[in-house]
Amino acid sequence: MKSMEKDIYILAIESSCDETAASVVKNGRKVLSNVISSQIALHTQYGGVVPELASRKHIEKINQVISCALLEAGMGLEDMDAVGVTYGPGLVGALLVGVAQAKSLAWAADKPLVGVHHIEGHICANFITHPELEPPFVCLVVSGGHTHLVVVKDYGEFDILGRTRDDAAGEAFDKVARAIGLGYPGGPKVDALAKSGDPHAIRFPRARIEGCPYDFSFSGLKSAVLNYLNHAKMSGETVNSADLAASFQNAVVDMLVSRAVAAAEEQGYGKLALAGGVSANSAIRRGMEEACGKAGLKLYYPEPVYCTDNAAMIGSAAYYEFRRGARSGWDLNAVPNLKLGER
Ligand code: KG4
Ligand code: ZN
Repeated sequence: MKSMEKDIYILAIESSCDETAASVVKNGRKVLSNVISSQIALHTQYGGVVPELASRKHIEKINQVISCALLEAGMGLEDMDAVGVTYGPGLVGALLVGVAQAKSLAWAADKPLVGVHHIEGHICANFITHPELEPPFVCLVVSGGHTHLVVVKDYGEFDILGRTRDDAAGEAFDKVARAIGLGYPGGPKVDALAKSGDPHAIRFPRARIEGCPYDFSFSGLKSAVLNYLNHAKMSGETVNSADLAASFQNAVVDMLVSRAVAAAEEQGYGKLALAGGVSANSAIRRGMEEACGKAGLKLYYPEPVYCTDNAAMIGSAAYYEFRRGARSGWDLNAVPNLKLGER
């Protein structure tokens, strides 16, 4: 940003799933505060996110989280240029808490309101960690609810090259973790356990979808893991969980790396970015580093805290939407199935 231009401060709010988060972001890339109240402890006892409990917890925490974010930034609502909020996709009740809060604050302080797509937020997390990164580039978004291979043509402009046909990558991690008794959220636990296992111990399938080279499917892999466990149980064999975790993870790495690198090579921008909770996975990062090195691609991924859900990434996305002139009305509503690129 040129020094002549006025600095833009955004108060951003995120409540689409199981984190209540608020952040103040300057000019889309500089995070002045990033407050996250995680609900992991609450949902752990149920083995996964319970939507109704998530909404109630968001209501309990949201005021505190927003006050903290402003306090840490050393600013007041009156200093903000806009209020940004995730309005989809996600759990409808959870999204509504953030949307209602953002609308009331923006209305009360007479500030513009900017609704943000959650996945656009995940992609923009890369702008926070990498000040030099600019579109166009290819981005692989892998989270608990989404697996998308996207061309980021410009700020706020996306072409979707491929998506999952069934489970999201994070969902596969969470389901496999539950099957081997690791609990919720499964991704980081599988990642940790896999470090002591042999990734080539068990050969799991890598699904390909005929005619759609950039689409993903993880349900066959998940079933193969469950079948393996059932078979071992029936025949009284003990399962080496570390080998199982490492072999499963290796199959996910292969499926993600092959498609993302092929897409980035085909698009020809020389840049591949990763985003979403699953991009915190150590084997995925390693596999991507290796393949990008061979293909001559520059690889980007956010710092771990900006990979999983947070409001700083929403503040970054809101800034670029704000700069494009996007403003939401007071009728902004939660859209649980909001598609990327839809407004
Ligand atoms: O992006 P995110 O916080 O929420 C959604 O928008 O869905 O992603 C959460 C997902 C969960 O499925 C979690 O298990 C997974 O990201 N995850 C990981 C790791 N850290 C988080 N998966 C694999 N390895 C990790 N290290
Ligand atoms: Zn997310």
